[in-house]
Amino acid sequence: MRQDYLTFGSPALGEEEIAEVVDTLRSGWIGTGPKVTVFESAFADYVGAEHAIAVSSCTAALHLSMLVFGIEAGDEIITTPMTFCATVNAIVHAGAIPVLVDIDPETLNIEPACIEAAITPKTKGVIPVHFGGRPCEMVAICQIAERHGLVIIEDAAHAIESRTPDAKVGTIGDLTCFSFYVTKNVVTAEGGMITTNRSDWVDRLKTIALHGMNRDAWKRYSDTGFKHYQVEAAGFKYNMTDIQASLGIHQLRRVEKNLERRVEIWARYDEAFAELPIETPSAPNGGEIHARHLYTILIDEKRSGMDRDEFQQALHERNIGTGIHYVAVHLHPYYARTYGYRRGDFPQAEYISDRTLSLPLGVSMSEEDIEDVIEAVGQVLKASGSTTFSGASKIDREHITVVSGLPRSGTSMVMKMLEAGGVEPLTDGIRVADEDNPGGYYELEEVKCAEKDSAWVNSAVGKAVKVISQLLETLPRNMKYKVVFLERSMQEILASQRAMLIRRGHRGDEVADEEMAALFNHHLRELRAWLEIQDQMDVLYIDYAAVVEDPLGESRRISDFLAVPMDEQKMAEVVDENLYRQRGS
Ligand SMILES: Cc1ncc(COP(=O)(O)O)c(C=O)c1O
Repeated sequence: MRQDYLTFGSPALGEEEIAEVVDTLRSGWIGTGPKVTVFESAFADYVGAEHAIAVSSCTAALHLSMLVFGIEAGDEIITTPMTFCATVNAIVHAGAIPVLVDIDPETLNIEPACIEAAITPKTKGVIPVHFGGRPCEMVAICQIAERHGLVIIEDAAHAIESRTPDAKVGTIGDLTCFSFYVTKNVVTAEGGMITTNRSDWVDRLKTIALHGMNRDAWKRYSDTGFKHYQVEAAGFKYNMTDIQASLGIHQLRRVEKNLERRVEIWARYDEAFAELPIETPSAPNGGEIHARHLYTILIDEKRSGMDRDEFQQALHERNIGTGIHYVAVHLHPYYARTYGYRRGDFPQAEYISDRTLSLPLGVSMSEEDIEDVIEAVGQVLKASGSTTFSGASKIDREHITVVSGLPRSGTSMVMKMLEAGGVEPLTDGIRVADEDNPGGYYELEEVKCAEKDSAWVNSAVGKAVKVISQLLETLPRNMKYKVVFLERSMQEILASQRAMLIRRGHRGDEVADEEMAALFNHHLRELRAWLEIQDQMDVLYIDYAAVVEDPLGESRRISDFLAVPMDEQKMAEVVDENLYRQRGS
């Protein structure tokens, strides 16, 4: 075990920075001055933006950006719950209402479709956060913003080096905000930058960043003689100092070299952890540059043998410091209290929030430090008695239970049994049992478009979903499923179907039994053949009549198949013949 503590996010400051700070201290001018101007212009050049305005933090940058755009009380700004609280606090301080929407669990970035769905007449802007340095889907976000006339303010606190396949981060949105906080890829202790191509905003940004005093007021004590200033707005104290800029100027010169080093460390981690029962961060898309700010693993208790907090504590006891990015914003009491957010609002963000852990990733790390992290992660997992050390891939995560079958075959009954036995159903909307759907279990709306949107699946792990047989083929292939497939006599299915149609106002003789039976039988034959060759799906066929005859015996079969502890007695008790047996026939 290593002797000294490996601090998470230690900065790498060189002799050049030290010399520059000393030079500034000796210059007689340590506040906002010429070195800030040098840093601003070097930053604008690096990013390729027309203007860069240095400020005291990224939080300040975000706040100023909203003000310069003209955000007013009651406006809504959409952002992600998978961010630091500063993003959301800046919205609150600008007087606006933060509207959170869920993330893509693969990229950890805001899901563009969710942005679009959250837009109201009050929406004025969106703040995409390039999580960990992975660029957001900016093409889609820009299209949405354009369609709805929204301002895009990028939170690029992690993303100084990032690029989408089309453009450098810092040149895409209307305003982009960077952070130079101590743990960031460029460090000035505290500091931030706004980049923009909007020349008409620059004066105003500088003015409100410094008390609202007119431009270059910082020069009022300089060797050009005292100058009067005028206050044009009730501004803020958000300026950067020359001491901070002294660090930034040299940090920026090494930014690309440092990125190369973090790419190496990242690859070492990926290789070392490939066989371990943890999830490693997904690779960026082709053409993207990922700023490699955070290396976040996912610790799932079922696979890793301990939960994330225990895992973090165990690493801490081995002298390895880690971070958590982030506990989803809406789970913090302030936002829950003020905006009514609750657990369950953003399942993808919550899934990540409960499991994510950031390992040290920085150029100040020695080869030994890297090895120490790798060794400690392996040791902690071994000590936890976690399931396996080999062959564990993403697909080996715990399964999703799927209840399927032809319509009217009793899937609702089995869902009810599973719930009684302790397997939580995942269902959307309010479940109301009625004659057509006695368990009240509807297919997830999302399952219906599983092909194009697979984001819901993470929240289904360990739970049960009802999926009609025609949609089984659209389930995302990168998960494991245990499918309980209902069989029922075709005669009963058709009778039940006919009764349902009649209840809904159709005439009974409109249903051509023979034609429908032929169709259903053909579908079943094809589906069975397909299910046989699906590695990701285990299937248990159960017969509706058998469940009604022997509820306890069939409950045992289901619980053995799912291999999770279930209350079989309770399962059997909910099998209600009156509700399900040959209804309508
Ligand atoms: C995503 C994100 N946004 C905003 C901030 C705020 O940055 P600063 O500390 O420079 O105000 C941070 C800093 O940790 C961050 O990680």
